[in-house]
Amino acid sequence: MHKKDIIQLLLGKYYLHAPQHEQATAFAPTNIALCKYWGKRDTELNLPVTSSLSISLGNKGASTTLRLLSEAEDVLILNGSPLETTTRFGKRVVEFLDLFRIQQQPSLRIDINMNIPLAAGLASSACGFASLVAALNKLYGWGLSLQDLSILARLGSGSASRSFWSGFVEWHAGIQADGMDSYSEPFSAAWPELCIGLHVVSHEAKPIPSREAMQRTRETSVLYRSWPEQVQRDLLAIKQAINQQDISALGAAAETNALAMHATMLSAWPPISYSLPATTAAMHAIWQLRSAGLVVYFTQDAGPNLKLLFLKKDIELLSKHFPSLEIIAL
Ligand code: PMV
Repeated sequence: MHKKDIIQLLLGKYYLHAPQHEQATAFAPTNIALCKYWGKRDTELNLPVTSSLSISLGNKGASTTLRLLSEAEDVLILNGSPLETTTRFGKRVVEFLDLFRIQQQPSLRIDINMNIPLAAGLASSACGFASLVAALNKLYGWGLSLQDLSILARLGSGSASRSFWSGFVEWHAGIQADGMDSYSEPFSAAWPELCIGLHVVSHEAKPIPSREAMQRTRETSVLYRSWPEQVQRDLLAIKQAINQQDISALGAAAETNALAMHATMLSAWPPISYSLPATTAAMHAIWQLRSAGLVVYFTQDAGPNLKLLFLKKDIELLSKHFPSLEIIAL
């Protein structure tokens, strides 16, 4: 199965039709996985080996505006500055748009504005592709459901499938070869006391894209064999903790899950480590604070920065220990 087959299946009679509007804009929040997606059962369709669960970061995310152009070539603007369509991200965006067009027509001006620190490990591809798909849905007048948009966005970036809702979101791995059962949906109620803090240790770009890192881990890491079982356990614990609004249970399961994901990468060959010395130092600081009674946990994605999990009542104390902590309203 190829991406185009899935798109044809979802769009039906609208497949390769002309846009219905001159321009369209859509916003999508970014999301942080509490139970991670790591490894694909189908690399073309971005079908995951396991389910995953995330939390969306309120109004932090991407807004994409698409405008029809009379010129032959696409124009891509990221946060107000032109971005060559030959860059890694630029190429991914244009190749994705081409799935919906005939011979790259109509050409588009694509304005993506993100209000998150770029390259700080805040899942810019997740909100980028989700907002792109939501804007396409408006431009072409497809009228697709959020579930279908979640499937389409997954074809651009796996974690983008979770970026269509606020609050907690579960992405079901699914078992079908065409991935029609691999979509996301909201999980449970809000938890207004919960906070996420971004602890940035470096703004450097990642040494290896997550797509390649996942593949290498899956192919060479002995520890990866136990990953699906780990996820099953952590997902259950995380869902229970959310339902009971139990920060210690949530933090413990999310931290374990992140560390287990990074352990599978360390045991890959060649090994992959996204941590810098400052990342490890911050982990030790968090463990020390926790043993002193402060209720704080962390999660880490494919980058050196940490996302701290804690409750509103501890904001002041935490800001004292991590003065540059960016607290994100959920
Ligand atoms: O969707 P991708 O290809 O950007 O991969 C996301 C991988 C992690 O952020 C590490 C985990 C996750 O579930 O978001």
